[in-house]
Amino acid sequence: AGAGPLAGRRVVVTAGGTREPLDPVRFLGNRSSGKQGLAVARAALDAGAEVTLLLAHLEVQPPAEEPRLTVRHAGTALQLRDAVLAALEEESPDALVMTAAVADFRPGEYRESKIKKDPDADDAPVIELVRNPDILRQAVERRASAGGPALIVGFAAETGSAEAGVAELGLAKLRSKGCDLLVVNQVGTDLVFGSDRTAATILSRRGDRTDADDVVGGKDDLARRLMELIASHPAMR
Ligand code: C5P
Repeated sequence: AGAGPLAGRRVVVTAGGTREPLDPVRFLGNRSSGKQGLAVARAALDAGAEVTLLLAHLEVQPPAEEPRLTVRHAGTALQLRDAVLAALEEESPDALVMTAAVADFRPGEYRESKIKKDPDADDAPVIELVRNPDILRQAVERRASAGGPALIVGFAAETGSAEAGVAELGLAKLRSKGCDLLVVNQVGTDLVFGSDRTAATILSRRGDRTDADDVVGGKDDLARRLMELIASHPAMR
C-alpha cells in the first residue's frame, strides 16, 4: 500500500484525446497531448492512491508499469464511456478525474472500407456527425442513483470572451456538469495544449460555496495542487 494523504484511496483518471473513426484509415481527433492526465495520475500515485488510468490517444509515452497503477486503453468516446462506467462499477473509486479530451461528436456512420475520391469529379463527401455521450455527466447521474465516487472532477478549456471571463464560464460549467471540482484551463495562450506548462483555475464546490484557486506553473504543479484539494475535501473523509 502507498503512503501519503491518499493512501488506501482509489482514483480513476482519464487522459489523452479520443479519436473518432470515419473509416479504417481516418479519424476525427483533437489536440490533447495527454500530459495533464498523466501528471494527474503521477500526482495521485505520489499521494499514495491506487490509480486506474484510462488512456485515449497520447502524444507522449504512456507510463511504465509500477505498483498501484493499472492502465487500460479506450480510444473512442464510446469505448472510454464503457471503460469509465466499468471502472466505477468494479472498483468503487473514491475519485474520478476526467482529464481526457472527449470528442463531443463522432461520425454518424463508420465506413468499413476507405472512403474514396472520384478522380473524374471534384465533389467531396458530406460527413454527418452525431453527439457523443457526456461521460462526466453520466458519472454524475450514476452517482445520484447508484452512489459512486465521493469526488468527481472535470476539466474545461475556455478562452473567455468579451461577455464572460474564464472563471465565470467555469462556474457556469461546474454547475451545469454537477461535478465537485472543475479545472478551468485558459486556452489561447501558448500554454495548455502540448505544453508542459499551464495556467488554470481550480474551482471547488461544497454545497453553495465555491472556492477558486489559481495555478500558473507546470502541469505537475497543477496536478499536485489538485491532489491536495481532493485529499482535503470534506467528501473524502
Ligand atoms: O463540456 P466540456 O467538453 O467543456 O467539458 C469538459 C469536461 O467534460 C472534461 O472533464 C471532459 O473529460 C468531460 N467530457 C466528457 N464527455 C464528453 C465531453 C467532455 O466526459 N463527451
